[in-house]
Amino acid sequence: MSFRISGTGSRLAEKVVTNDDLAKIMDTSDEWISTRTGIRSRHISTYETAGYLAVEAAKSALSDSGLKAEDIDCVICATMRGDTFTPATACKVSEELGIRAPAYDVNAACSGMIYAFDIADGYIRSGKYENILVVTVEQMSKLVDWEDRASCVLFGDGAGAVVLQKGDGLKGIHISCAPSTTMIYGDSFCGTSIYNTTQEAKPVLHMQGQEVYKFAVSAMMAEVDAVLERAGLTTADIDYFLPHQANMRIIDGAAKRLGLKPERVLTNIQTCGNMSATSISVLLDEYAKKNTFKRGDKLLLVAFGAGMTSGACIVEWQA
Ligand code: ACO
Repeated sequence: MSFRISGTGSRLAEKVVTNDDLAKIMDTSDEWISTRTGIRSRHISTYETAGYLAVEAAKSALSDSGLKAEDIDCVICATMRGDTFTPATACKVSEELGIRAPAYDVNAACSGMIYAFDIADGYIRSGKYENILVVTVEQMSKLVDWEDRASCVLFGDGAGAVVLQKGDGLKGIHISCAPSTTMIYGDSFCGTSIYNTTQEAKPVLHMQGQEVYKFAVSAMMAEVDAVLERAGLTTADIDYFLPHQANMRIIDGAAKRLGLKPERVLTNIQTCGNMSATSISVLLDEYAKKNTFKRGDKLLLVAFGAGMTSGACIVEWQA
């Protein structure tokens, strides 16, 4: 027995920045961004810290699940970078919610939530834990190069959270890494070592857009095939498709190849952009709160990101 989803939550940064707003501060246009990506606006942090967003999303998911802080056995936060490189953002969540349990972060870029689910699956299946809080948070606005118009217009900030409880909701999960550290990467701050002889690079995100695009299309299809096989299901069994929100053209292409009807393909890229590890968790919470999912619906979640990581899972809705 693995897990079922018993609660979801999310918190987006408050400030909305439209494509037209960006066109006022850089050489871009709503037409360029929206036709190439589907993005019209995104949420950008001003006063919010990553810890604040993560805590708010986690509070909401915990309340939705009906569990209390003392019921949580483990907190896993998927993020590329929190407010501090240590302690982990998961520790901040635990501190604010009053959770006393192991807490740590995982970094699998945009595939972070699926990777965290895979860890949770192992813990619960082994009998070690029964209730796991998975939090995702990204402040992409603090990672991108605002002088690189080809990447900074793509991203947004927010947090999501999911409470996983022992149950039989998970029908299959599959994660992969096709190692490449040059397609998408961001350098770390080198610190103040007087012995360091390596060159310090600008600590911002770099992305080879077209290479990533090609990887995304093939990785998504491969993950979907692998997870369907693992679950013993076909695309005809899938009620809702929740893909990583990186580019509407990638999503449309994947949905078409899988033969999924448009109403089964869930998106929020139009108003959120790409929020890396947080994209699918916010999407899940948004549609859960709209009561889109019925008991027994099968949701297919699929992601890809830096690393190059990818992963997919199929979860039966039981909440
Ligand atoms: N506004 C206007 N023009 C722009 C902009 C912009 N914001 N950005 C780039 N351009 C220009 C370029 O300078 C170039 O001009 P040129 O032809 O005169 O040289 C032209 O537009 C085309 O640029 P490309 O980079 O070739 O554009 P492309 O069609 O490949 O689209 C995009 C770029 C949208 C980034 C696409 O490659 C893509 O979506 N890639 C996938 C990204 C992705 O999935 N990332 C997810 C992973 S992120 C993570 O893991 C953290």
